[in-house]
Formats: sequence, structure tokens, C-alpha cells
Amino acid sequence: MAKHTVVTMPGDGIGNQVLPEALRILKAAGFDAEYVHADIGWECWCREGNALPQRTVELLAKHRLGLFGAITSKPKKEAEAELRPELKGKGHSYFSPIVTMRQRFHLDTCIRPCISFPGNPLNFIRKGTDGGFDEPLVNVVVFRQNTEGLYAGVEWSNPPEQVRAALATHPKFKAFAAVAGSDLAISVRVITRKAARKIATAAFEWARKYDYKSVTICEKPNVLRETSGLMEEEAKAVAKEYPAIALWSTNIDAQTMWLTKNPEEYGVIVASNLFGDVISDAFAGLTGGLGFAASGNIGDEVAVFEPTHGSAPKYAELDPPIVNPIAMFLSAVMMLEHVGEIEKARRIRTAIAAVVKEGKVRTYDMMRIPGGAKAIGQGAASTVQMTDAVLATLTQQRNSADGSNAQRELAEVGRK
Ligand code: NAI
Ligand code: MG
Repeated sequence: MAKHTVVTMPGDGIGNQVLPEALRILKAAGFDAEYVHADIGWECWCREGNALPQRTVELLAKHRLGLFGAITSKPKKEAEAELRPELKGKGHSYFSPIVTMRQRFHLDTCIRPCISFPGNPLNFIRKGTDGGFDEPLVNVVVFRQNTEGLYAGVEWSNPPEQVRAALATHPKFKAFAAVAGSDLAISVRVITRKAARKIATAAFEWARKYDYKSVTICEKPNVLRETSGLMEEEAKAVAKEYPAIALWSTNIDAQTMWLTKNPEEYGVIVASNLFGDVISDAFAGLTGGLGFAASGNIGDEVAVFEPTHGSAPKYAELDPPIVNPIAMFLSAVMMLEHVGEIEKARRIRTAIAAVVKEGKVRTYDMMRIPGGAKAIGQGAASTVQMTDAVLATLTQQRNSADGSNAQRELAEVGRK
């Protein structure tokens, strides 16, 4: 029996292209695992009226470890229009299966590392006043609260009377009291002390473990006094338990403005759901963009790892596939670290770094050329070629490790 079982959910579009490539890498690194396929995404919605089928929920509950590709999602009305005719009008409503999965399994901690690979042509560069430029290497890890905030799903179009009545008890709602229900939409930003404390603690623990000098709480407490206020209050309380790590507090708007000023100054960043989503994409843009952005959704029992990108439908049908599989590989690396396979994770990361640094094999995004059927003709590597390059480097490492082991063994023999 394999040591680990991983539920694989390729999902839609390019999820189906990058996830199988990650499995090749995991295998080459010697990860001892069995993979169980599970359905998720748009096709499930159209066919079954549920983008996260119960059978997938059960597999995740059983095996507790998931690797996820990407899904397609569409606005409510389009979603209803694409539902199989016999399911229409039966009360099915579309929910993002990822958001549902995060809530169903309390995957409340989202970790999104945004770390530059030296030599990546997509790295952020900064112009100096002398006309030159420098390339500050960014090493930021975003901790995003993953189940609450504005993504808690507590929202209404045309809110029911009781909701309006409750809102009317707040003096600031007077300004909206006369708005017709059909012209009113409301999303509630829910923050609990427990979740705020937990995400702040996870951020500080990471900072301690990996030697980051600061944790930044990135919110907007001057305006969102209650919810961002609670996030900041808890971050301050947690910070007291980590005297060696500085707590910085920034506002989300200012943080995005400062993003390109001094990104190398930041270490761990912690934020509520929407702000964490925003700021992690922003930092990911400095460290290679969607082709490099990985994430982990971690709960007390279940953990699911996924690239940040979506299903990129416009590239999903290309043969050969052209998208960059590195974000998916880095998600698999995070999974390895999560299950304690530190050495295998390190080896894959080193192999990716070597391929990026060498610069011979680059997918279209790394060449800054348009994606599409012509990209390969312009010298871009395909998804599979990028995987092959990482695999070749992994194998070389292994051979040279075997080589040095063999020499060590010979030396041992000589001594005896
Ligand atoms: P997207 O992330 O799918 O693609 C945006 C663009 O980024 C692509 O057109 C492509 O130019 C580039 N890109 C994405 N992944 C790449 C990769 N691995 N290598 C190179 N370039 C890459 O976002 P978009 O177009 O906004 O959404 C497409 C669908 O994906 C939508 O249905 C959306 O709802 C869904 N989505 C799903 C997510 C998920 O599964 N976690 C996240 C974001 C969007
Ligand atoms: Mg996002």
C-alpha cells in the first residue's frame, strides 16, 4: 500500500493539462502515493446541477489530501442557462465549488507564497534614478483567512424584509432605506475573533519557522472599523507572543500602491479573505504571475493544494498545451511539505529553480509573447516540454546524488 493517498481534482480547462504533469514530477521525485480521481467543476454543474458532487466530498473526507487544478465558473444567469434542460427550474443554484470546499472542510488557512526565482524574466524590476534598474528578489508569503469575510456567502439581491428591518436598526442604513429591493444587493463581511486569531497565529508561526523578520496585517481598520478592526486587534494580541517578530500594519489600498516601491521589505502578510485574495495576486504579479502562483487551503483535517490560476478556457483546447505548469508543480511542492516530505519538496523546487535560471526552456508567459497556437512556433516550450525539463533536472540530481552515495560507499568499503 502506498504511503499517501491524494484525491486529484483536475477540474476544467487547463486544470486537465497541468495536473497530470504535476503527477509525473511527484512520481519522479519518489513520492509514494496513490491517486484517486474526483470530479469537480463546470461539467458537473451542467450535468448534475452541482459543481462539487457529494462523491467528491466523500473522497476528500476519507483521504484528507487533495490536489486541485482549476475550474470554470460563470455568473448566475449564464450558469442557469447552461444547465441540462431537465435540471432547469428545479432549484439548483450555482456556487463556486472551491469556495464550497473551503467552507465544507473548514479550510480556513490559505497560504500563498510569492517568492521570486532568480533568472525569471517575469521578475519585477525597479528603475533607479540614475536610469539603471535593480531586481529586488521578493520573498512574501500571504496568509489569507479563507472561509469568512466578504466571501462568507452571506449575501442577497433584493434582501428579504427581515434583513431590511435588521439593517434599518443601523443609523447608516437610513441612506439606503428607500432603495427598491430589486435595486439593492448586499454582501455581509463576517469576521469572527476565533478565525482572526487563528490566521494571525498561523502567520506568526510560519514567520518563526522560516525566519521572517516581520508579519504585516493588511486590512483597512480606519474605515472598516469593526471587521478590519477585529483582524488588527487579534494580530496585535498574537504578536505579543512573538517578541522577535515585528508586526506591521498596512491598509490594503496603500499596500497595493507601495507594492512596487519596496516589495523586498515584506515577509509574511496576513489578511482577511478578499484582501488576502487581492494582495496575494498583487505580489504574485511581481514573482512570475499566474504561471508561478501556488496555494494551499489548509484545515484541521483536510488540505487541498491548487495553483491560483483559473481554467484559462482560451488555451484549454490547444494541442500541444502551452500553459505554464510551474504553478501546479509548486502547489504539489506545498503538498509535499504539508505531509512532511521535505526533502522531495526541496528537490523539486531546486529543479524548477535550475530550469528557470538556465532559461533554455520557457513557456510563452515567460517569453512575454501572446499565448495561442503560434506561441510554440515562436520558440515557447509546451506544457509537456517544461515538465520534461524539470524532470530531466530532477533525474540528474538523483543520479549525481546516487553517484556521490556510490563514491561514499566505495570509500567506506576501502576503509574496511
Ligand atoms: P485564468 O487564470 O483562467 O486565466 C487568465 C489568463 O492568465 C489566461 O488567459 C492566461 O493568459 C493566463 N494564465 C493563466 N494560467 C496560466 C498558466 N498556467 N500559464 C500561463 N498563463 C496562464 O483567469 P480568467 O480568464 O479570469 O478565468 C477563466 C475561468 O477560470 C473563469 O471561469 C473563472 O471563473 C475561472 N477561475 C477559476 C479559478 C480557480 O479554479 N481557482 C481562479 C480564477 C478563475
Ligand atoms: Mg484570486
